Amino acid sequence: MKDISTAKDYLNLAATKVEEELDRLLIVKDPPIIYEAMRYSTLGGGKRLRSALCFLGAYGKEELALPAACAVEMIHAYSLIHDDLPCMDDDDLRRGKPSCHKAFGEAIALLAGDALIARAFEVLTEQKNCTLQAVKELAIASGADMMVGGQVLDLEAENKDITFEDLKTIHTKKTGALITVSLKLGALSAGRQGLLSQISSYGQKIGLAFQITDDILDVVGTKDSLGKTPGKDASSGKNTYVSLLGMEKAKVLAEKNVLEAKETAKGLPGEQILKEFADFILFRNN
Ligand code: IPE
Ligand code: IPE
Ligand code: MG
Ligand code: MG
Ligand code: MG
Repeated sequence: MKDISTAKDYLNLAATKVEEELDRLLIVKDPPIIYEAMRYSTLGGGKRLRSALCFLGAYGKEELALPAACAVEMIHAYSLIHDDLPCMDDDDLRRGKPSCHKAFGEAIALLAGDALIARAFEVLTEQKNCTLQAVKELAIASGADMMVGGQVLDLEAENKDITFEDLKTIHTKKTGALITVSLKLGALSAGRQGLLSQISSYGQKIGLAFQITDDILDVVGTKDSLGKTPGKDASSGKNTYVSLLGMEKAKVLAEKNVLEAKETAKGLPGEQILKEFADFILFRNN
């Protein structure tokens, strides 16, 4: 087993910082129910991978990336609330507790997701050195060309035969885009425009490896370790790397992407942690 302790320490620190700030940013106002639902799904759980990547994009100047880190966690939390709705993946369990619509009902869950999108952009623009480019990058990564588009393709592909290239497109859009933009927003916070292309290549590789591992964990993980319902992909007729390629080939492909990500990380600020992060994505069990 590779030593990924530094990445884990970095992740824990990022989680603490971002949770404290999210707690402050999502203070309960009127009407309380919507804030309670937003807090329920955003606080107290999750690996905080995207916020950690946002900090890593600003490695050495992490404090500048705090609003962006909160913004990507809000977008991520919204995407999970909607992903779990009965009209989408119909999942009752998220982060070890009832999913948002189970706890608050469908209407409030839908609206909590909507409100988190709006709040994310509000918070991002409050960042001292926020640029229009950063706002646009987050909008593109979350919208119909990327995350939402990927979710549409994911649903449309249920119980259908699709090609490996189709599946790669789904994963790149629905998961890779937000992971990649997290790194980019961090880099932009630290004024590192010149590194965007290299950091994006790294993000795309780990993004793909991350969703392949998510597909693998859906098969081999347990309810307790995952905090979500295992076996859901097969029972919903989802196309996944495991269903298309089989378990062994899926693992090999995740490893290949991680290896390529590590190559791409060469010379970036925080190179060593970026490399460990890539390994963490492979060795995680939740
Ligand atoms: C789950 O993401 C949804 C996917 C994009 C696969 P995470 O595995 O990062 O979820 P949390 O934030 O740790 O709960
Ligand atoms: C979710 O992918 C991707 C987004 C939320 C954008 P999945 O549907 O595989 O995520 P889980 O397994 O429910 O966390
Ligand atoms: Mg889904
Ligand atoms: Mg799902
Ligand atoms: Mg999944």
